[in-house]
Amino acid sequence: MSRKIAVNTGGGDAPGLNAVIRAVVLSAINEGWEVYGIRDGFGGLLNPERYNGDGVVRLTADSVRGITHTGGTILGTSNRGNPMRWPEKQPDGSIVEIDRSDEIMEKFRERGLHCLIAIGGDGSLTIARWLRDKGLPVIGIPKTIDNDLGSTLMTFGFLTAVETATDAIDKLHSTAEAHKRTFVVEVMGRHAGWIALFAGVAGTADVILIPEIPYSLDKVAKKVRDRYESGPQFAMVVAAEGAVPLGGEPLFAEGAKPGQEARYGGIAERLAGELANLCGVETRSLVLGHLQRGGQPISYDRLLALRFGAAAVELVKRGDFGSMVALDPPNVRSVPLGEALASPKLVPIQGDVVRTARALGISFGD
Ligand code: F6P
Repeated sequence: MSRKIAVNTGGGDAPGLNAVIRAVVLSAINEGWEVYGIRDGFGGLLNPERYNGDGVVRLTADSVRGITHTGGTILGTSNRGNPMRWPEKQPDGSIVEIDRSDEIMEKFRERGLHCLIAIGGDGSLTIARWLRDKGLPVIGIPKTIDNDLGSTLMTFGFLTAVETATDAIDKLHSTAEAHKRTFVVEVMGRHAGWIALFAGVAGTADVILIPEIPYSLDKVAKKVRDRYESGPQFAMVVAAEGAVPLGGEPLFAEGAKPGQEARYGGIAERLAGELANLCGVETRSLVLGHLQRGGQPISYDRLLALRFGAAAVELVKRGDFGSMVALDPPNVRSVPLGEALASPKLVPIQGDVVRTARALGISFGD
């Protein structure tokens, strides 16, 4: 049966997006189907005037040649593109959110697009689920460096981000030791501390702070002091951006705006100041930020992305809509979007990686 499939990438980018797109396109072409890429989330559909008529592009084998190893996304992405909360400028300059989801449905009909393969994190997949409720056949592919999507052991991009963060922590060790300094490294992770935990353990941090385990500043300071007193004259603290002090709140660099969520940030700088005061040691902070989202995906993430893309096309073939592909080793399986989105996948605080860290003497500040 001839089919036209749409694919888009939404939310923050993650290494491996291009590999997914390639797998979707080649697998669909193998079925004799056509694939169309929507630019910038839903931007290419809803604001076609910005794309010179090129907001939705036919993707061929040529369009996806040589992109498996590249970072970013050939389609572009946006984390301000929720069609249900589309930011629209008013004549008075203010911005209000409007629901443009009916237009999406209309445009899919007009273009004869049969279904949408949505590659995204919790935000983009929630949008996909709403569109499904409106009658659009959708398949989700889980993407986020934060690894916090439910029902899948892992999202692609996560281990590449861990690699980048570990490399940074390794490099900071030598300068920390040379200057007898304490470093506080802030990594991404709003609700879940997967990157901080994995990179912190692999990079032999002294303290790891994650949203799942609220920390006591006094305990963090004691760990840093103990370390200096026991010999090494430097310390490494790795903090997820969403880590919280006991009874406190996470720090934000910017508040929420219409069509845009609040942006986390600031914990490393805050902690560095506090630790310098409490411990009397020279302290520096570093925010790794978007470095963690950039660059080439490591081979594991490429492979996972390619498997997810091919599996999504398989689900289209089976008519298994309203579902998401998920890693459930040794297989990639289908799970209902509602199940995957029910709750974020947090670090299990009694899990073996946390226990390993504790066994190695790493403090979580609790
Ligand atoms: O969801 C991934 C993520 O990397 C978060 O950890 C981070 O807070 C957010 O994206 C930042 O996104 P941006 O700065 O692109 O809005």
